[in-house]
Amino acid sequence: MLAIGAAGPARAAPDGALLYARNCAACHGADGRGGVGVPLALPDFLATAPDEYLRRTIRLGRPGRVMPAFPHLSDAEVDAIVRHIRSFAPDVRPRPLPEGPVRGDPKRGAELYARHCAACHGPDGEGGKGTGVTFSRPRDLPIVAPALNNPGFLAAASDAQIKATLMWGRKGTPMPSFLKQGLSERDIDDIVAFVRSFERRPRKRRADLKDEPPVLVRESASDYAATVENVKQAVVGQNFRLIRVQPLEQGFFPEGEASRAETIVYFCNFNFLYKALAVDPRVGLFLPCRVTVVERAGKVLVMTINPTRLAALFNNEELDELCERMRELYEAILEDSTL
Ligand code: HEC
Ligand code: HEC
Repeated sequence: MLAIGAAGPARAAPDGALLYARNCAACHGADGRGGVGVPLALPDFLATAPDEYLRRTIRLGRPGRVMPAFPHLSDAEVDAIVRHIRSFAPDVRPRPLPEGPVRGDPKRGAELYARHCAACHGPDGEGGKGTGVTFSRPRDLPIVAPALNNPGFLAAASDAQIKATLMWGRKGTPMPSFLKQGLSERDIDDIVAFVRSFERRPRKRRADLKDEPPVLVRESASDYAATVENVKQAVVGQNFRLIRVQPLEQGFFPEGEASRAETIVYFCNFNFLYKALAVDPRVGLFLPCRVTVVERAGKVLVMTINPTRLAALFNNEELDELCERMRELYEAILEDSTL
């Protein structure tokens, strides 16, 4: 019998390992060594990243820099994930961060930033090309420098934490210790003030890609067979290589739709492909490129996915640009093949 007033059975604490496996491991690696995301298991990172920074980073994500926001997790779930990240390096104790407010001169900081940081973190703090730890990098720069002008980063990191990162660097990554590089604490304060000033700069708003139509469609002026030929020519005309042309068998269609015809034209541009994969390996999901020609109720339609709409899934501003270019190419192919 349950005594009145007694607490019910304690609700099991959320399982941090499981939550991490589900939400984070695909990018940061099962053991936190990084992948599409930066490493999380490095001692120098864990020693200077307060729990509050980890919690806020999980909540806010990094808009436009692949790292998603997780607003739907409960506080207890976020805490469980943070404990799991700590378990990657159980011997690491938090290192006391530099004390006192950081007061620096952002103008002087801008000059120092241009000299010491811009090559890796970008002239405007936009971060390195690509993200995380990727195969196609020079050996001395295996980890892409995060974006410092990112609202998610700026809202999560305290001045003291940024200062500590500059003073001590992160061993095992390209991020050096700037005390060892010969900068003074005053120089570092000035750079922190400059990094903080990114917060006050206007940011271009990312268009709402979710409003985009999922597919691009055009009606052809020619008959079905001629349209398939037109598509093949248009694809080659836009510098793609034709991979294969696949007519769907009659048997694939539901009964009563025997009059329907459908052909998928697959194609690829290897230059473009390698560039896109370097920006974000997840683009592999929607490659190779394809155009579908269908004849339905006397109309011949030419269709492709809308790459701009797909970009909405990826939270990656660099990829948005590539998807935009891909969309222009797709539209040119649709245009050329339906005239
Ligand atoms: C789709 C890939 C992806 C997923 C999923 C993802 N992250 Fe990230 N994460 C990134 C990337 C990329 C960055 C670096 C952003 C940049 O380069 O500007 C990052 C950055 C971070 C950082 C900041 C690291 C630092 O050095 O300051 C933390 C902490 C983090 N992620 C934790 C998590 C946790 C915890 C989860 C799961 C709840 C998660 N991430 C899910 C891609 C991802
Ligand atoms: C040689 C390339 C390189 C240079 C130069 C460099 N960084 Fe970094 N920085 C990195 C990399 C790579 C990381 C990510 C390390 C990791 O994965 O933990 C990083 C991490 C950081 C972080 C932590 C960001 C986060 O999301 O946790 C800050 C802040 C930072 N750098 C600021 C600077 C500033 C300011 C300068 C100039 C004084 C600078 N860095 C110079 C490569 C560089």
